[in-house]
Amino acid sequence: MNNKDLVAKAVYDAVKDDLTLEQVEQLLENPKSAEHGDVAFPAFSLAKVYRKAPQQIAADLAEKIDSANFEKIEVVGPYLNFFMNKELISKKVLQTVVKEKEHYGDSNIGNQGTVPIDMSSPNIAKPISMGHLRSTVIGNSIGFIMEKIGYQPIRINHLGDWGTQFGKLIVAYKKWGTEEAVKAEPINELLRLYVQFHEVAETEPELNEEARAWFKRLEEGDKEAIQLWQWFRDESMKEFNKIYDLLEVRFDSLNGEAFYNDKMDEIVKLLEEKHLLNEDKGAEIVDLSAYDLNPALIKKSDGATLYITRDLAAALYRKRTYDFKQSLYVVGNEQSYHFKQLKAVLKEMGFDWSDDMHHIPFGLITQGGKKLSTRKGKIVLLEEVLNEAIQSAKEQISEKNPDLENKDAVAKQVGVGAVIFHDLKNDRLNTFDFNLEEVVRFEGETGPYVQYTHARAVSLLEKAGFVPSETADYALNDDTSWEVVKLVQKYPETVLSAGEKYEPSVIAKHAIKLAQAFNKYYAHTKILADDEQKEARLALVYAVTVLLKEDLRLLGLHAPDKMSEKENVKSAF
Ligand code: ARG
Repeated sequence: MNNKDLVAKAVYDAVKDDLTLEQVEQLLENPKSAEHGDVAFPAFSLAKVYRKAPQQIAADLAEKIDSANFEKIEVVGPYLNFFMNKELISKKVLQTVVKEKEHYGDSNIGNQGTVPIDMSSPNIAKPISMGHLRSTVIGNSIGFIMEKIGYQPIRINHLGDWGTQFGKLIVAYKKWGTEEAVKAEPINELLRLYVQFHEVAETEPELNEEARAWFKRLEEGDKEAIQLWQWFRDESMKEFNKIYDLLEVRFDSLNGEAFYNDKMDEIVKLLEEKHLLNEDKGAEIVDLSAYDLNPALIKKSDGATLYITRDLAAALYRKRTYDFKQSLYVVGNEQSYHFKQLKAVLKEMGFDWSDDMHHIPFGLITQGGKKLSTRKGKIVLLEEVLNEAIQSAKEQISEKNPDLENKDAVAKQVGVGAVIFHDLKNDRLNTFDFNLEEVVRFEGETGPYVQYTHARAVSLLEKAGFVPSETADYALNDDTSWEVVKLVQKYPETVLSAGEKYEPSVIAKHAIKLAQAFNKYYAHTKILADDEQKEARLALVYAVTVLLKEDLRLLGLHAPDKMSEKENVKSAF
């Protein structure tokens, strides 16, 4: 039970006849400052029932409420301020963490239901963009969070490996490309060809016709087209894998758009059977006016299928293959309309499970305030960003801690961690401007700061030779430790809320707050002083190491045990 629940129960027991437990819960407030206790109950709403001044009611209630869980209950005007019994709570909380370790905060609300997570999904023959990075790290983290609350995540990389752009690419390659150039620098060369296609097509629009024809051949299984396509795909995949390896992201499925090439006929047939297809200038569309949406274009006039046709086939395939409880799509918010249409078409088809499909949008990354566009060749190369961050971590580590073992491995964990954390620490819908210097800055609210705090706490435990005991009485009663205890106590709730909102930033913010509270505690308390509370203080430090490590894991970061021997956070990172 959290503090609010404990207070709600105590208040409810005293006002049972006049308010329900839910009503009491809704009235409770979190006082702004610690002076006013941990939870407050305003007595206003009882004034009508009791026909008394709220001040009087508050005073009467204070007498009546069972104070077992509280240090004190203070009456301030119409408010009852509850101060939790720190000893009792810290004892319970620390004991639970010592027992459950990294499983503290686990729950089974998902009942082991499966959750396919459509994530990353870059487009073949183009560099993986910052948007795809966002999708990759947000999706990966949501996977860990969902798993912690009892779901089985299935990470799917819905590769953009099909569509008219492959017609363009084949045309461009045949006109201006060579095998050697593609082999030497696959993505750069393919991108160059793609950009060149668009430039030339501006003055020679007939190129577009050629491209359409090549895509048609590809869809029909033409040998030459398939061979080129397969080659582009393989070369691109090699490049993407470099990034996935750095990020340590693994997929359960690489079924991209091409995988659905032979599964779209069924969709078209089903739509026909249900009389949902309408002809519009030779094209096939589904009317969605009942949903206040534009019609969904399912087939072009030349018979070519579209992005949404493949997504329809993919949705049905996922339902059949995984019998999902929820199906998530971690894709930028610029595709919101597409996912609305996708769900609406499925709904029209009578697939009510489409209600369990959720688009998890995120904000755009801009640079210098401008949108990044691959078509114009304006892109931030992700691999460079990651390598730069690793390099910067290496420099900082060499300077601060030249003798550290596994310097390279730690530099990688810190550098890559910096990039991931930077992405996950803000609400996912926030737009942010990309700034490399900011990403590789390791002070303040950053991944390296959390990692460093974790390593610092680990080394403190090591120095003390602390061994957690499941039967010990770890009780703390001071105000500084209380700020840390509360964050440990709140953890299960925090994890649930991150899962319910599909929001890794909830975890990142918890990590930052916990690291800050711990560093403050460390600065103000002689943790290693030899007195009767030493073991309890160390148990709290232990809980901090467990939770910071778990927070980092849920975000997709490592928590190295050693980073720097320096004692001061700021000077170390
Ligand atoms: N490849 C697409 C893009 O880069 C994203 C695919 C998202 N997933 C999906 N099922 N539509 O824009």
